[in-house]
Amino acid sequence: MAADGADVLMSTIENTDATEAKPEGLQEFTLRLRRYDPESGQAPYFEEFQIELEPHRSVLDGILQAKAKEDGSIGVRCSCRAAICGSCGTRINDKPGLACHTHLDEALKRSKDGKITIEPLGNMPVIKDLIVDMDAVHWKKQARVTPWLLPKEPLPEREHIVPRESMVDVTQSMACIQCGACVSDCLSMEIDPLFVGPAALAKAYRFVGDPRDSRHAERLSNLAEDPHGIYACTHCFKCIEACPKGVAPMSQIMRLRRIASQDHHINDRNNGERHEMAIVNSVKKYGTLNEAKMVPDSYGGPLAPAAAKELVASLPVITKALLRRKVTPKTALFHHKNPDQAQIKRIYQEVQGREQRLELNLYITQPDEDPAELAAHEAHVAEAAAHDAAEQAERAATNQTEAGA
Ligand code: SF4
Ligand code: SF4
Ligand code: FES
Repeated sequence: MAADGADVLMSTIENTDATEAKPEGLQEFTLRLRRYDPESGQAPYFEEFQIELEPHRSVLDGILQAKAKEDGSIGVRCSCRAAICGSCGTRINDKPGLACHTHLDEALKRSKDGKITIEPLGNMPVIKDLIVDMDAVHWKKQARVTPWLLPKEPLPEREHIVPRESMVDVTQSMACIQCGACVSDCLSMEIDPLFVGPAALAKAYRFVGDPRDSRHAERLSNLAEDPHGIYACTHCFKCIEACPKGVAPMSQIMRLRRIASQDHHINDRNNGERHEMAIVNSVKKYGTLNEAKMVPDSYGGPLAPAAAKELVASLPVITKALLRRKVTPKTALFHHKNPDQAQIKRIYQEVQGREQRLELNLYITQPDEDPAELAAHEAHVAEAAAHDAAEQAERAATNQTEAGA
C-alpha cells in the first residue's frame, strides 16, 4: 500500500535550545505517516515526524505527540488507549494491529529502515489519514450475520441455564473488540469485497455456538449457500496472525463449516461441503491431495454435468500445470500413496470413531476456577433447573385445568 515514489515530506520538532539536556529515558523515533485527505484532491503521500518518548510507550502515544506538537490535522482514531475499544486499528510496518498496543521499541525492531511506518487499515476506504470508513465495510458485514441472539421460545421465567462448556466455547469469539485488523489483511476480501469476512464470521460463530440461540440451522444454511460466505475463506491464516485479541477468526469459520456439514448436513450450492469431503477423502486414501480428482469429486462425481462444466472451465489451469510439469499425465492417473498411509488411516479411525466430535478451545489457558466456587455454581444451576421444571409443571397443570373448565 505504501505508494512507491510518493512524496515524502519531512518535518522535525524544532529544538529551540540545542544544548538542552534530553530527559532521562527518552528516545527519539521517526514516524512515517501516510497522509491522505480524499477531499483535497491530492494523492496520498508520506510525511515524517520526529518524536521523543520512552521506548515502552505506544505507537499511538507517538502519533498523538506528533499531532499535539507538530500537526493538529493528523487524522487518527482512538479512545481507550488500553487495547479495549478497538478504535486505533492501523497498519504498522505493513502489519495490522492496535497502535495503542504496540510499543515503540518493538515497532522499531520490526522496521526495515529505522523508521516506523504507519498506514490506515486495508480493505476499507480511507476517510482521512489513518481513519478508515468502518461503516462502509466492517459494520455492514457485522449487520449481515444478524449479530444478536434469537432466543428459543418460550423464554424461561428466570435465566437461561447454559452448560458451562458452551459458554467457554464461545468466549473466544466474544473477545473480539471490532478493531478491523483481520479485515485489513483478509486475502479473500481483497479479491472479493463481498466476502462476509473474518470478523463477521467470528461473530456468526458466537451465536451458532450459543445453545440459547434458536436459529443455528438458518444461520448456517444462509452462510453456506452464500457464494461470499463460509466457503469463500481461503484458509490463509492472515486473520489469525492479525488479531490482537486471539479470536482466531479462521478457526471460528472452520467450526461453522464443520457444524454446517457434519451436524446439519447442508449440501450447499457452492459445493463447499463436497469440496471439503473431497479433500478429507483424498488425504484418507493417499495421504496427500490427488489434484486430478479434486474437481470431479467436488462437483458431484466424474459423470455429474457440473463437474464436466468445471473441468472445461479449468482447462487453462490444467494446461498450465501440465506445461510447468506440476502435474504429468502419469501422476494425474496414478496418484502415489504416502509410505506412512497406515498411520494416517489410524488417525482417521481414531478421530472418526469418537462418539462425539471433540472441539478444543485453546483460548482459555488460565487454571480452572476454585473447586468450591465451581461446586457452588453447579448447585445453583441445579437449583435453577429444578425451579424451572417445577414452574413448567405448574404451568402445564394450570393449562390443563383451564382447558377442562
Ligand atoms: S483465513 Fe479466511 S477469513 Fe482469514 S484472512 Fe484468510 S481468507 Fe480471510
Ligand atoms: S476478530 Fe480480532 S482482529 Fe478481527 S475485529 Fe475482532 S479483535 Fe479485531
Ligand atoms: S485506543 Fe482503544 S484499542 Fe487502541
